[in-house]
Amino acid sequence: MHEYEHVTPTPGSIDVIIAAAGSGSRFGDSQNKLFATLAGRPLWIHTVARLSARAEVGRIVMAVSQSDANLFQNEWSEELKQYRVELVLGGAERSDSVQAALECLEQSESADWIAVHDAARPLVRDVDLSAVFATAWQNEAAILVSPVTATMKRDVGSMNRSVTVPRRDLYTALTPQVFRAGLLKEAYRKHNGRPATDDAELVERTGHDVALVVGAADNLKITYPEDLILAEAILARQSHHA
Ligand code: CTP
Ligand code: MG
Repeated sequence: MHEYEHVTPTPGSIDVIIAAAGSGSRFGDSQNKLFATLAGRPLWIHTVARLSARAEVGRIVMAVSQSDANLFQNEWSEELKQYRVELVLGGAERSDSVQAALECLEQSESADWIAVHDAARPLVRDVDLSAVFATAWQNEAAILVSPVTATMKRDVGSMNRSVTVPRRDLYTALTPQVFRAGLLKEAYRKHNGRPATDDAELVERTGHDVALVVGAADNLKITYPEDLILAEAILARQSHHA
C-alpha cells in the first residue's frame, strides 16, 4: 500500500485511454448508459472533462463502439474537440477496446505513461487522480482501489460450507489504472486473449508489481439505472465540498 507522495508528473506526460465501447446492457436503456444525463450533461462528458482538466494529461483516446461512433461524431463533435478527445473503434471485450486505443497512441507521438479509465466512472476525484498519477510515476504501475467493507465468504463445497475470508487485505479495483507505457504494451503483447478483469491483471502476469492507491469509494462505476441517483447525490456533495 502506498501513501500519497507529493510528486507531480510533468505536464503532458500521461496519455489517457477511456474505455467507452461497451453496450451498457445491464443499464438497459435504449441508448448507451454513457449518454444518460448526470447533472444536465451526458455521463461520458463528466468523465472526459475531469481528465482533460489535468495538466499531466497529454492525449486522450476514447474507444467507442461501432454503434455509437456516428452519434459521438455527429452530435458531440464540439465537445470532443473542446476536451481534445480522439475517437477509436473499440472491440468485443473491454481489453480489445483498450488494445485498439493503445494501437492508436502508438501511431503518433505519445507520452511515456498511460492511464486507463472507464468512461462509466464520472466521479473520480482530483485528489485521487493526483495520488494515482504520482504513485505510478514512482512505481511504474499504480491503480486506484477502495477497501472492501462487506464481510466476505468463500463457498467451499457447493454452498453448504463457508469460510470467512479476512477482508483486511481485500480491495475493490477501480480506475484509473496507470502504467509506464512500455509496461502496459508488453502486458498486452503477452495477453493472447486469456480473460482478464482489468488492465492491472495483465501487468501482474508480466511479473511486475502494481501499487495499490486507496481512493474514495464514491468513484462509482455506473452500471444500473439506480446508480445514477447515487451519482447525482455524490456529485452534489463533491461540488459542495470543493
Ligand atoms: N467497455 C469497453 N469495451 C467493451 C466493454 C466495455 O470499452 N467491449 C467499457 C464500457 O464502455 C465502460 C467500461 O468499459 O465504460 C466498464 O465496463 P461496464 O461498466 O461493464 O460497461 P458496459 O460493458 O457498457 O456495461 P454492461 O456490462 O452492463 O453491458
Ligand atoms: Mg461490461
